[in-house]
Amino acid sequence: MADKDSRKIAIVGSGLIGRIWSMIFAGAGYRVSIYDISPEQVKGALTSIQESLARYEKEGSLRGKLSAAEQAQLVTGSSDLAECMLGAKHVQECVPEDVNLKRKVFEQLDQHAGPNMVLASSSSCILSSDFAANLKHRENVLIAHPVNPPYFIPLVELIPAPWTSPDVTLKTRALMEEVGQSPVTLNKEVPGFALNRIQYAIINECWDMVKSGVLSPSDIDRVMYDGLGPRYAFIGPLETMHLNADGIVDYCHRYANGAYKVCETFKPPPVLYDVPTAETVQQELSQTIPLEALADRRRWRDERLASLAKLKRDLN
Ligand code: NAI
Repeated sequence: MADKDSRKIAIVGSGLIGRIWSMIFAGAGYRVSIYDISPEQVKGALTSIQESLARYEKEGSLRGKLSAAEQAQLVTGSSDLAECMLGAKHVQECVPEDVNLKRKVFEQLDQHAGPNMVLASSSSCILSSDFAANLKHRENVLIAHPVNPPYFIPLVELIPAPWTSPDVTLKTRALMEEVGQSPVTLNKEVPGFALNRIQYAIINECWDMVKSGVLSPSDIDRVMYDGLGPRYAFIGPLETMHLNADGIVDYCHRYANGAYKVCETFKPPPVLYDVPTAETVQQELSQTIPLEALADRRRWRDERLASLAKLKRDLN
């Protein structure tokens, strides 16, 4: 049974992404029930959610109007999938990225789903048509792919399968907006969705420039974080074209031929991210970020992303 006015969300899989989704929904005042195949994981998730919310409150990055303690109280664990899903309006699946596992878990979700319950997968690459084709409630299934760490990076890619009901996609888009995420809707399924297609195009060119010795790995990264990145934190590539001339049409009149000549020198994809090149890059990256310091650096990254998220909120 699902109630369209329900204020309950079900989270299935309580690892990294399931925990963050739980905090996002609780931040907007939803009751959240978490289920995991491993009860130990659920226990760990509840503790880690409580600690993270308290830390965000202290650091000024907590979402929503409720206190950290009030938000933590909204999140409960369950060792029974049917109970976890009972009365929920939206189920967010967060189990590991394996098509056979997704298929198995969605067959279970299908058994407990009500007619109005949205069944969303956090899948990074797998299309829902690869695992939901034979489900009774397949019109309620879609991908809602977050970006790590979703608490501070709001984009969510919504990818309906050919049979997903348009109403389900619209409802999910509205829910994502309501809880403070920033949804985009793909009108058809494509491998890599949008973010990774763009990300891989960037990595392809970075890889080639490292391999052909044009610039060092650390200088390539600098091109992004001190060049394109700051701009792209506020406007996208198309608006950039629009603003860098008298509109995008004028941009094309002025710069399209030059850009085309540059693009003619690109190596044809696909580019294989080969291990020998990766070893060269890692050697250089390890001088400032050795492998044993990766966890510290991830924390450093998340603190900066939290500050940027706050700045963007304050500027709006
Ligand atoms: P994770 O490995 O941290 O957590 C997966 C959780 O699922 C574990 O707690 C595990 O016990 C549980 N689980 C395994 N089988 C289950 C079952 N049959 N029923 C219920 N729970 C089960 O994985 P993570 O990183 O949270 O990823 C989850 C999904 O989110 C994947 O599809 C992944 O591709 C996607 N994703 C991950 C991102 C990341 O940066 N980690 C970013 C965006 C999406």
